[in-house]
Amino acid sequence: MSTTLATAVRHQPPPVIAEPVIEVRDVTKRYGKTVIHEHLDFDVRRGEIVALLGGSGSGKTTLVRQILGLESPTSGTIRVLGEEWARMDEETAKMLRTRSGMMFQQGALFSSLSVYDNIAQPFRELGKIPEDLIREFVMLKLEMVGLSCKHASKMPSALSGGMVKRVGIARAIALEPELLFLDEPTAGLDPKASDEFVDLIATLHRALGLTVVMVTHDLDTMVALSTRVAVLADRRVLVAAPVEEAVAVDHPFIREYFLGRRGRRALAALPPERRAKLPAVALDDATLALR
Ligand SMILES: Nc1ncnc2c1ncn2[C@@H]1O[C@H](COP(=O)(O)OP(=O)(O)O)[C@@H](O)[C@H]1O
Ligand SMILES: [Mg+2]
Repeated sequence: MSTTLATAVRHQPPPVIAEPVIEVRDVTKRYGKTVIHEHLDFDVRRGEIVALLGGSGSGKTTLVRQILGLESPTSGTIRVLGEEWARMDEETAKMLRTRSGMMFQQGALFSSLSVYDNIAQPFRELGKIPEDLIREFVMLKLEMVGLSCKHASKMPSALSGGMVKRVGIARAIALEPELLFLDEPTAGLDPKASDEFVDLIATLHRALGLTVVMVTHDLDTMVALSTRVAVLADRRVLVAAPVEEAVAVDHPFIREYFLGRRGRRALAALPPERRAKLPAVALDDATLALR
């Protein structure tokens, strides 16, 4: 069970933040005449959990799709694990795809496939893996995300929202990727399921030494998980820093998102040493009253 995994890694230090694994340089992305990104730079280091924030339509999903090589920038370069998408051969591209796991916002699962077949699909795509081995892998992944193997034969429509996300994660980590991309993973979950999801990601991050890039609107998820937040606004990454530093940037999106009542309340959940670095405007009234 993942409770066992969670217990096993609880006292393990989080992964060491190491070399850059994603390097986005001077990227401009246009659809026709619409400019989505303009001279955008963005870096992620191994071991980080970066939350990607921004208004609806600001280009978060488009940025993730370009990092995954599913979409090409109009200009600029994107390197992942040291390889540049525009300059790699087919073999390298294939290898790179197996080193990244992703869970998209829509269609986290194939609705016509059972839980088992959803998780087995990345193995089957690789080809030539015997079914009994696939079976072992699938059961192991289910266990890692805290689901009993009795759910394996169920169809996605029979699962709760939280369980669908767990199966989506099991599939995303099937091939033991180094990088994990999540697009609005807690959208539509109730607070309890969101909290459980946060715990699962924190556990997997430690257990597997993952690097995580997570698009999220959810303030509590972002505060609980991220080592840095990257704010997408005005067609570029405005700031990429620990949240206590990012909130000090004077920009309408940041004021609206972080400095409203909900934002300040979420920031109050930061550990004391990080909360101490918040600018006064970001402190919740309740926190202020305590000082
Ligand atoms: N394939 C596409 N063709 C044309 N426009 C697109 C395409 N994909 C996204 N867009 C547009 O790009 C903008 C950014 O989209 P998206 O990256 O999905 O934003 P976000 O994920 O931040 O909500 C939106 O205005 C969207 O309509
Ligand atoms: Mg999106």
